[in-house]
Amino acid sequence: MKYKSLAATSLIMAVIVIISCKTHFETTKGDYKASASPARFEHGKNMVFSVCAGCHYNHGVKKFIGNPINDVPGIAGKVYSANLTHSKTNGITSKYSDAQLKYLLKTGISKDGRFMAYMLRPNMADEDINDIIVFLRSNDPALSAADTTVGLTHYSLIGKTYLGFKADPAPYKDGLKRPSENDAIALGRYLVDNVGCYHCHSKSLKSLNSINPEQTKGYLAGGATFKGGQGMEIAASNITPDKNSGIGNYTREDFRKAVKDGLAPHRKLKPPMEKFEYLSDKEVDAIYAYLMTVPAKYHVVKHL
Ligand code: HEC
Ligand code: HEC
Repeated sequence: MKYKSLAATSLIMAVIVIISCKTHFETTKGDYKASASPARFEHGKNMVFSVCAGCHYNHGVKKFIGNPINDVPGIAGKVYSANLTHSKTNGITSKYSDAQLKYLLKTGISKDGRFMAYMLRPNMADEDINDIIVFLRSNDPALSAADTTVGLTHYSLIGKTYLGFKADPAPYKDGLKRPSENDAIALGRYLVDNVGCYHCHSKSLKSLNSINPEQTKGYLAGGATFKGGQGMEIAASNITPDKNSGIGNYTREDFRKAVKDGLAPHRKLKPPMEKFEYLSDKEVDAIYAYLMTVPAKYHVVKHL
C-alpha cells in the first residue's frame, strides 16, 4: 500500500513537472527591417555599449566575442553569452533576421524558440531596438569577424528543469516610445530599466519583474551577489536615496563619477559594476534625478 501511494505520488509529481516545464515557444515570422542612418548608428552604438557590452563585450580583444557567465550555479550547467561579431562560423547575429532580433529583445524568445531571460527588455522603445540592430549590422571594428568561441552553453537536466519552471516570456508589444529628453525623471526610469541597473541593484537576479521593474523585490536597495575578481563574492550597492545605507549623500557630480568612471566618493568600484562611458551626461543626470525620487530604503550592503 505504502509503495503504491509512493508510486502514485511520484507519477503525479512527474506529470506536474512535465506540464509546468515549457521549453519551446513560438517565435516570429515577421518581416520587419531596421532603418539605418548615421545618427541611428551612433545612438545604436551607445545603446549596445551600455546595454549589451556587460555580457557580450570582451575588453581584452575589444570585440563582442562573448563571455562566460559566472553567476549561474555550476549544478545548472555552463552558460556563455554569444559571439555577436560577423564571424560566418561562430557569429550569431547574421543568423538572425531583424524581426527575430527585435522579437528576442522584446519577449526573451530566441529564433529557435528558447527562452533567454538575459536579453529580455519588454519596455524598450522601438526606435532604440531599431538603432541597436543598425549598430549590430554595421562594420564597426568591435563587430568585425572573430571566429573565437568562448564556449557553448550547456544546461544540465537540473538547469533545464529550473529554466522550464522559470520561463516567462513577455508579451510582444509594438510601438513603444522612448521618453522625451526633457522629462528627466521618466527618462531616468526608462534607463534604469533598459540599461539594466535594477537587475543587479535589487534583491536577486532570480526575482526580477521585467514588465514592472518597480515591483521587483528590494527594488534598487541592493544585495544581489556576484562572483567578483578571484572568485570573491561581491554585493551590489543600495542605490536608493537613503542617507545612511544608500546614495542619499551623493551629489550629481559624485554620481557621474561613479557611473561613468567607476569611482565612488571613498572607493574605486569593482566589477561587475561597469564604467558606463557610453551614457551621455544628460542620461546619467536623468538616472540620478529618477533615483532621488524612489523611496529611500534602509538596507546596509557590505562592500568588499
Ligand atoms: C546579462 C547578460 C546579457 C546581456 C545584458 C545581454 N545578453 Fe545577449 N546573451 C547572453 C547570454 C548568456 C546568451 C546565451 C544564452 C544561451 O545560450 O542560452 C546571449 C545570447 C544572445 C544572442 C544569441 C541568441 C541565440 O539564439 O543563441 C543574441 C543575438 C544576443 N544575446 C544579443 C544581445 C543584445 C543585442 C543585447 C543588448 C541589447 C544583449 N544580448 C544583452 C547574455 C546577455
Ligand atoms: C552587472 C551588475 C551591475 C549593473 C548592470 C550595474 N551595477 Fe552598479 N554596482 C554593481 C556592484 C556589484 C556594485 C558594488 C561595487 C563595489 O562595491 O565595488 C555597484 C556599485 C554602484 C554604485 C556605487 C554605490 C556606492 O556608493 O556603493 C553606483 C552609484 C551604481 N552602482 C550605479 C549603477 C547604475 C546607475 C547602473 C545602471 C546604469 C548600474 N549601477 C548598473 C553592479 C552593477
